[in-house]
Amino acid sequence: MTDPTVRPRGLEPRGRWTLRTARTSYTVEVPGHGGWAELSSWGPTGVEDGPSPLAGHGRTPFRTAADAAPAEYLPYGLRPFAGAELDVRRPGAERGSWWTFAGERSTAADLEAGELRLAFTDAVLGLDAVLCYRTVPGTDVIRRRVELTNTGDSALMLARLDSAAVNVPVPGGARLTYLVGQWAQEFQLKQIEIERGGFGIGSTQGVSGHDYAPWLAVQDAAEADGPVTPTWGVSLAWSGSWHLDAQVDAGELLRVRVGREPHEGEVLLPAGGSLTTPELLVAFSPEGLDGLARVWHEHERIEAGPRGLRPRPVLYNSWEATGFDVDRDSQLALARVAASIGAELFVVDDGWFAGRPDDTAGLGDWEPDPAAFPGGFGAFIEQVRGLGLDFGLWVEPEAVSPGSRLLAEHPDWVYAIDGRPATLIRGQLALDLGRDEVREYVQAMLDRLLREYPIGYLKWDMNRPPTERGRLGDPPPRAVDLDAAHVANYHRILSTLRERYPHVLVEGCAGGGGRADAAAVARTDVVWPSDNTGPQDRLAIQYGFLHAHAPHVMSSWVTDAAGFFDTRPRSLRFRFVTAMAGALGIGADIRSWTAEQRAQAAEWIAEYKGLRGTLHQGEVHLIGSPQDDTCGVQYSAPDGSHELVLAWNSGALAGLPLVPGRPDRLRLRGLDPAAQYRDEATGTRYSGAHLLHAGLPCPWSAEYDADAVVLRRC
Ligand code: DGJ
Repeated sequence: MTDPTVRPRGLEPRGRWTLRTARTSYTVEVPGHGGWAELSSWGPTGVEDGPSPLAGHGRTPFRTAADAAPAEYLPYGLRPFAGAELDVRRPGAERGSWWTFAGERSTAADLEAGELRLAFTDAVLGLDAVLCYRTVPGTDVIRRRVELTNTGDSALMLARLDSAAVNVPVPGGARLTYLVGQWAQEFQLKQIEIERGGFGIGSTQGVSGHDYAPWLAVQDAAEADGPVTPTWGVSLAWSGSWHLDAQVDAGELLRVRVGREPHEGEVLLPAGGSLTTPELLVAFSPEGLDGLARVWHEHERIEAGPRGLRPRPVLYNSWEATGFDVDRDSQLALARVAASIGAELFVVDDGWFAGRPDDTAGLGDWEPDPAAFPGGFGAFIEQVRGLGLDFGLWVEPEAVSPGSRLLAEHPDWVYAIDGRPATLIRGQLALDLGRDEVREYVQAMLDRLLREYPIGYLKWDMNRPPTERGRLGDPPPRAVDLDAAHVANYHRILSTLRERYPHVLVEGCAGGGGRADAAAVARTDVVWPSDNTGPQDRLAIQYGFLHAHAPHVMSSWVTDAAGFFDTRPRSLRFRFVTAMAGALGIGADIRSWTAEQRAQAAEWIAEYKGLRGTLHQGEVHLIGSPQDDTCGVQYSAPDGSHELVLAWNSGALAGLPLVPGRPDRLRLRGLDPAAQYRDEATGTRYSGAHLLHAGLPCPWSAEYDADAVVLRRC
C-alpha cells in the first residue's frame, strides 16, 4: 500500500498511501514536517497519477499551513483558525494538542483487510490518535474512524471528537445536497450553493433525528448534476446526537467535518482509557447524485450479506386500521383479508399489551392484554399463522409510562435530573438504556417475547427524545458518556437479537424516520422512513430516502385514501406502485375494501412478489424528481434480463394526457442503445436508443397515474 516514490510539493514525504476501492482511489500523504495527514487525491481509479488537485491553496501569513492544508484530521492547537476535528484539554493545562506523526501502524492483517492506520502522538498532553481507514470490498465506500488513547496519568476532556474531515476541491463553489425534514416529512432533498462560508446540520435529540439525515453529497457548483458529474458523499454511522459542518475556505476547498455531539458538552477520557469515534462512511461516484445513490445502495447490500438477500415479506400492519383498539377479533378480521390478498406477514402494532387504551399508559411491562386476547396471545398468534401468515410484533423498548410497574420498581431507570420535573412527551418517559441493568431488562423482555411466541418480525419503535438527560443521584461530572452509552446498548441489543434469533427480521423505527442512520440500517433489516403514508408526500420522502439508502431497507405501506397527512387523491394503483419501490406493506383498513379493491391488491401483490429480486437487488436510477410531472425509478435486473420502471404522474391530475395526444416521457438510463426491449404488458418493442433518448411513453390519466413497466431485453 505504501508508495514512497511520489514527492508532494517538493517536500520529502514521510509517507503516501493509496486506498483502492472497486472503482476509486483515495490517496493520503503525510508531509515532511509530520504534523498531519492530508488528502492528495480522491476520485476514479488513476486520479492519483498526477499532481494533487488539492495542494497548496489559500496559505497566507494569517492562515497557518494547517489551516490551508486539506488535512484529514487535526486537533485544536495545530489548527487554530478553521476549527478543528478534535478539541482536547487536560484540566488545569492549556487547551490543544500539537501532535506529530508516529508512523503507519497497519499490521499485515490490517492491510489484508483493507485497513490503513496512521498514528499521531502528543507526548506533552499524553494522547495517542490513530486515523483508521477501511475499504469495503466490492464497493466505493471507505469507512473512517479515529481511535484515541489517553497515555497520561489524569483524565482528558474532549469537547469535540469528530470521526473525520473530508476535503473536496470546489473551484466553482460547493453545491451541497442534504436531507431535511421533521416528523412526518422526513428525507426531503434540498440543495444549497456556497461560494465561501459555512453550513451546518445535526441532531441533539439523542437519535439521528427527523430534522436532518447524517448524510451529505458534495459537487462543484460550476457543474450541473448529471450522469458525468463527480460527486462525493458522507454518511455518519451513528444513532445518537451528531453534527456536520461544511466550510468553503479561501483556498476553494470544501472541508466537511462530521462527528458525534457529546450530550454533556465534553467527553471524559480517563487515564489509560481509549475510545473509538463512530465511523464516517465516505464515498465517491463519477455519475452524479444518482450514481452516488448506487454506491450507497451497493454498500448496504454488501454489508447486509446473506440477510440482505432474504426476500422482504409482504407485510400487513394494523396501526392505521385499528390504532390502539387492538383485540383478537379486529386483528383476525384484518389478518383474514390480508392473507386472502397475498400478504405474507401480519404485524400487530402498538396497543397489544395490557393497560394501553391510548398513548398515555401501558409502556414498560409488556404483557399481552388478557382482555383483548381472551383465549391467550399465543392462541391468537397461532390463528394468524394458521392463515399462512408469519407473525410480527411492535415494541418500544426504550419507553416507559408513568403508571407502569417498571417505573414504580425502578424510578431511577429513566433519564432525570435531581430536583427538576421530568417532561412527559407522548405521555411517556425515556429509559436510560445506557445503564447495563436497563439493557439487561430490555434484552430479557425481548428474549421472553421471542421465546414464548413464534415471532418472525419485530418492529422496534422509539417515540420521544430524552429530555432532562441526567441520572438521579449521579450529577456531572460523571464517568459515563450518556449518549454514547445509550447508542452502544441499542446497537448491542440489535446485534444480540441477530445472533440469538437469526430468523427474526427487525424493522427500525423512531416515530417514523427518526433513527434511520447508517448504523441503525446496518443492524436492522428494514427501516420505517416516515409515518406519512399519503401518496404524494410519500413519493417525495422515498425519493430523498433512496438517495441515501437502498430499496430493500425501505419499508413502505399502501394505506387508505385520503391519507391522514396528504389528502390529495391518488389511485390505488399509484399507492401500490409507490409502496413497491421498497419493501411492500399494506397499512389500510382492508376490512372495508371492496371486492374490486381486494382483487386489484391481490394482483399488485402477486406482481411485486415476481419483481422483488429486481427491486431489492437491482441497480437503481432515480429519474426526475417528484417536483416534475413525471418521475420514476428504474431498477436494472442483476442478470441484465430486464429493466423494471416504476413511474408516477406526480403533477396535474387532469384526467387527460398532460399535453393532449402527446404522452409524457421518462428517459431511461444505463441501457445498451443497440439492444431491444419488449414491454411485457403491452408487447410494445423499443430500442435502447429510443428509451434513452426519446423515453418511455407514460400516457397518464386520472385512473392511470402510475405504473410498473417490465421491459424485457430481447
Ligand atoms: C410511531 C410509528 O412510526 C408508527 O408506525 C406506529 O408504530 C406508532 N408509533 C405506534 O405508536
